Amino acid sequence: MQINIYKEKIINIIDNNTSLENKLQAICDYLKSEISYYNWVGFYFNNGDEQELKLAQFAGEATEHTIIPFGKGICGQVAVSNENFVVQDVKEQENYISCGFNVKSEIVIPIFVNGQNIGQIDIDSHTSNPFTEDDVQLLEFVCQKVANLIQLPVI
Ligand code: SME
Repeated sequence: MQINIYKEKIINIIDNNTSLENKLQAICDYLKSEISYYNWVGFYFNNGDEQELKLAQFAGEATEHTIIPFGKGICGQVAVSNENFVVQDVKEQENYISCGFNVKSEIVIPIFVNGQNIGQIDIDSHTSNPFTEDDVQLLEFVCQKVANLIQLPVI
Protein backbone atom coordinates (compact mmCIF):
# COMPACT_ATOMS: atom_id res chain seq x y z
CA MET A 1 0.00 0.00 0.00
CA GLN A 2 1.34 3.45 -0.95
CA ILE A 3 0.34 4.78 2.40
CA ASN A 4 2.22 8.09 2.20
CA ILE A 5 0.59 9.04 -1.11
CA TYR A 6 -2.82 8.24 0.35
CA LYS A 7 -2.10 10.30 3.45
CA GLU A 8 -0.98 13.27 1.36
CA LYS A 9 -4.18 13.19 -0.65
CA ILE A 10 -6.25 12.99 2.55
CA ILE A 11 -4.44 16.09 3.84
CA ASN A 12 -5.24 17.89 0.56
CA ILE A 13 -8.91 17.00 0.94
CA ILE A 14 -8.96 18.11 4.58
CA ASP A 15 -7.28 21.42 3.70
CA ASN A 16 -9.76 22.23 0.93
CA ASN A 17 -11.84 25.30 1.52
CA THR A 18 -15.17 23.50 1.60
CA SER A 19 -17.75 22.13 4.04
CA LEU A 20 -17.19 19.21 6.41
CA GLU A 21 -19.81 17.24 4.46
CA ASN A 22 -17.97 17.77 1.17
CA LYS A 23 -14.67 16.73 2.75
CA LEU A 24 -16.14 13.54 4.21
CA GLN A 25 -17.71 12.71 0.85
CA ALA A 26 -14.42 13.34 -0.95
CA ILE A 27 -12.58 11.05 1.50
CA CYS A 28 -15.12 8.26 0.89
CA ASP A 29 -14.95 8.68 -2.88
CA TYR A 30 -11.15 8.82 -2.89
CA LEU A 31 -10.57 5.76 -0.70
CA LYS A 32 -13.13 3.67 -2.58
CA SER A 33 -11.72 4.57 -6.00
CA GLU A 34 -8.07 4.24 -4.99
CA ILE A 35 -8.00 1.03 -2.97
CA SER A 36 -9.32 -1.87 -4.97
CA TYR A 37 -10.60 -3.92 -2.03
CA TYR A 38 -12.48 -0.98 -0.45
CA ASN A 39 -15.93 -1.63 -1.95
CA TRP A 40 -17.97 0.50 0.43
CA VAL A 41 -16.62 3.38 2.52
CA GLY A 42 -18.77 5.37 4.91
CA PHE A 43 -18.89 7.49 8.04
CA TYR A 44 -21.31 6.84 10.89
CA PHE A 45 -21.72 9.35 13.74
CA ASN A 46 -23.45 9.20 17.10
CA ASN A 47 -27.02 10.37 16.61
CA GLY A 48 -27.34 13.11 19.19
CA ASP A 49 -28.15 11.63 22.60
CA GLU A 50 -29.71 8.50 21.10
CA GLN A 51 -27.81 5.30 21.76
CA GLU A 52 -27.39 4.78 18.04
CA LEU A 53 -25.22 5.57 15.03
CA LYS A 54 -26.48 7.46 12.00
CA LEU A 55 -25.01 7.07 8.52
CA ALA A 56 -23.44 10.25 7.12
CA GLN A 57 -21.44 10.37 3.88
CA PHE A 58 -20.61 7.15 2.03
CA ALA A 59 -19.38 5.81 -1.31
CA GLY A 60 -20.74 2.56 -2.72
CA GLU A 61 -24.17 1.00 -2.81
CA ALA A 62 -26.93 2.58 -0.75
CA THR A 63 -27.62 0.63 2.45
CA GLU A 64 -30.79 0.28 4.46
CA HIS A 65 -28.68 0.35 7.63
CA THR A 66 -28.72 4.11 8.07
CA ILE A 67 -29.39 3.79 11.82
CA ILE A 68 -27.48 1.21 13.90
CA PRO A 69 -28.19 0.80 17.65
CA PHE A 70 -25.13 0.82 19.92
CA GLY A 71 -23.99 -2.76 20.47
CA LYS A 72 -25.48 -4.12 17.22
CA GLY A 73 -23.27 -5.31 14.37
CA ILE A 74 -19.61 -4.51 13.93
CA CYS A 75 -20.32 -0.77 13.89
CA GLY A 76 -22.50 -0.81 17.00
CA GLN A 77 -19.88 -2.84 18.88
CA VAL A 78 -17.18 -0.27 18.08
CA ALA A 79 -19.50 2.47 19.40
CA VAL A 80 -19.31 0.81 22.83
CA SER A 81 -15.85 -0.83 22.80
CA ASN A 82 -13.97 2.27 21.56
CA GLU A 83 -11.62 -0.16 19.80
CA ASN A 84 -10.67 -0.78 16.19
CA PHE A 85 -12.49 -3.81 14.81
CA VAL A 86 -10.87 -5.72 11.93
CA VAL A 87 -13.03 -8.55 10.60
CA GLN A 88 -11.18 -10.58 7.98
CA ASP A 89 -14.13 -12.97 7.51
CA VAL A 90 -17.63 -11.73 8.34
CA LYS A 91 -18.94 -15.33 8.41
CA GLU A 92 -17.10 -15.80 11.70
CA GLN A 93 -19.01 -12.95 13.38
CA GLU A 94 -22.35 -13.65 15.01
CA ASN A 95 -23.05 -10.02 15.88
CA TYR A 96 -22.88 -8.77 12.31
CA ILE A 97 -25.31 -6.79 10.15
CA SER A 98 -25.03 -7.83 6.51
CA CYS A 99 -24.95 -5.07 3.91
CA GLY A 100 -24.93 -7.48 0.96
CA PHE A 101 -24.15 -11.11 0.24
CA ASN A 102 -20.88 -10.18 -1.50
CA VAL A 103 -19.32 -8.50 1.55
CA LYS A 104 -16.58 -10.77 2.90
CA SER A 105 -14.71 -8.55 5.34
CA GLU A 106 -15.01 -5.26 7.18
CA ILE A 107 -12.91 -2.79 9.15
CA VAL A 108 -14.23 -0.13 11.52
CA ILE A 109 -12.05 2.53 13.16
CA PRO A 110 -13.50 4.90 15.79
CA ILE A 111 -13.17 8.69 15.68
CA PHE A 112 -12.26 10.38 18.97
CA VAL A 113 -12.80 14.06 19.71
CA ASN A 114 -11.45 15.16 23.11
CA GLY A 115 -11.22 11.48 24.06
CA GLN A 116 -14.88 10.86 23.23
CA ASN A 117 -15.90 8.26 20.63
CA ILE A 118 -18.15 10.32 18.33
CA GLY A 119 -18.34 8.10 15.25
CA GLN A 120 -16.36 5.90 12.93
CA ILE A 121 -15.21 5.07 9.44
CA ASP A 122 -16.52 1.77 8.11
CA ILE A 123 -15.10 -0.15 5.13
CA ASP A 124 -16.73 -3.20 3.54
CA SER A 125 -14.71 -5.41 1.22
CA HIS A 126 -15.66 -8.11 -1.28
CA THR A 127 -12.27 -9.74 -0.64
CA SER A 128 -11.55 -12.14 2.23
CA ASN A 129 -8.67 -11.36 4.55
CA PRO A 130 -7.55 -8.17 2.76
CA PHE A 131 -6.61 -5.90 5.66
CA THR A 132 -3.10 -5.33 7.00
CA GLU A 133 -1.54 -3.02 9.56
CA ASP A 134 -1.27 -0.45 6.73
CA ASP A 135 -5.05 -0.22 6.50
CA VAL A 136 -5.30 0.32 10.24
CA GLN A 137 -2.61 3.01 10.09
CA LEU A 138 -4.16 4.80 7.13
CA LEU A 139 -7.67 4.75 8.56
CA GLU A 140 -6.51 5.89 12.02
CA PHE A 141 -4.81 8.78 10.23
CA VAL A 142 -8.06 9.62 8.41
CA CYS A 143 -10.03 9.48 11.67
CA GLN A 144 -7.52 11.74 13.42
CA LYS A 145 -7.73 14.32 10.63
CA VAL A 146 -11.54 14.18 10.63
CA ALA A 147 -11.56 14.55 14.43
CA ASN A 148 -9.52 17.74 14.11
CA LEU A 149 -12.33 19.17 11.95
CA ILE A 150 -14.98 18.35 14.55
CA GLN A 151 -13.65 19.97 17.69
CA LEU A 152 -16.44 20.02 20.23
CA PRO A 153 -17.26 23.29 22.01
CA VAL A 154 -15.34 23.67 25.28
CA ILE A 155 -17.78 23.85 28.20
N1 SME B 1 -21.83 -4.47 8.51
C1 SME B 1 -22.06 -3.40 9.43
C2 SME B 1 -23.30 -2.63 9.09
C3 SME B 1 -23.04 -1.43 8.27
S1 SME B 1 -22.73 -1.79 6.66
O1 SME B 1 -21.44 -2.54 6.57
C4 SME B 1 -22.68 -0.45 5.68
C5 SME B 1 -22.16 -3.94 10.85
O2 SME B 1 -22.16 -5.15 11.07
O3 SME B 1 -22.26 -3.12 11.76
